[in-house]
Amino acid sequence: MTKAKIFSGVQPSGIPTIGNYIGAMKGFVELQDQYDATYCVVNQHAITVPQDPKTLAENTRQLAALYLAMGMDPNKSTIFVQSDVPAHAQVAWMILCLTGLGELERMTQFKDKANKQESVNAGLLAYPALMVGDIILYDAEYVPVGDDQRQHIELTRNFVDRFNNRYGDLLVKPEAIIPEEGGRVMSLQDPSSKMSKSDTNAKAFISLLDPPKTIIKKVKSAMTDSLGEVNYDTEQQPAVSNLLEIYANLSGQSIDQLVQAYQGKGYGQFKGDLADLIVSTLEPIQARYQILLEGSELDDILADGAKKANKQASQTLARMEKAIGLYY
Ligand code: TYM
Repeated sequence: MTKAKIFSGVQPSGIPTIGNYIGAMKGFVELQDQYDATYCVVNQHAITVPQDPKTLAENTRQLAALYLAMGMDPNKSTIFVQSDVPAHAQVAWMILCLTGLGELERMTQFKDKANKQESVNAGLLAYPALMVGDIILYDAEYVPVGDDQRQHIELTRNFVDRFNNRYGDLLVKPEAIIPEEGGRVMSLQDPSSKMSKSDTNAKAFISLLDPPKTIIKKVKSAMTDSLGEVNYDTEQQPAVSNLLEIYANLSGQSIDQLVQAYQGKGYGQFKGDLADLIVSTLEPIQARYQILLEGSELDDILADGAKKANKQASQTLARMEKAIGLYY
């Protein structure tokens, strides 16, 4: 039996946080056994906001090394960098020409990001079309992502319906896979905003490459509240609830079990144990990452991944070009 296909990607706009890990990347590793998986470092998405060229290039290779260090396995999955596969930019153009301006303007991520920029480039608005293209090029049935990508997956589904209605059943309609706990990890300093790798306050997130001492410090200084009780209540205790979600996701314990275990114990021990858990989760990833980054195996894997991705993507692209009339 052929396996169902999945696709996902992460932007190399900085080192990923435990939010990216919990919301999406941990799932990439778990899903590769069950699915025919394609995982991309989406560097073309990253240039929708200003990037220093050298830093972007470094972040791209580092993110690919992190993919492998986490356990994404090139024998099971296709792992590649977006700019190595020209079909992504090509398909995005077709998608843009078949998408209403209003649809793109409604994207909440666009509105959020546009509000934070002094000047907004057209790429930021067009960004979801590039993402739609990433997914459909690989005939993905499922897309593991965090909660913040829900609207983009919905846009993809609508696009596929529209395209298939107009041109025949050529594209696969994808579904999001979003974790129940940890689909939206919040900032450690402000539980009303999402944890983000581009937050200007480094205390707000834990980077996957933070050394143990930094992790312990950041968890200890994470915001809590004055109630002093470990409870899951997203209204009254949003900061503690966020820490509980992180703990539950990384430990495999349920939130109920954790609340029971910390009854009457206060925040000190809870935070200490959570910090130890994050450190012990990240230490082996960081060790493998260093080795991968220094060797050349990574570049061979990415070259091979690009070859496989190009083959699949160019087939879908050709199918779409033919349907639209881009031939003679
Ligand atoms: P990006 O790079 O912002 O984030 C990568 C993945 O991490 C998830 N995520 C989170 N999950 C839980 N809590 C958080 N605080 C958190 N922050 C981020 C994101 O939901 C995402 O799954 N547009 C995408 C990248 C992309 C993509 C694709 C994804 C481009 N093409 C095709 C899937 C399929 C993005 O900006 O993710």
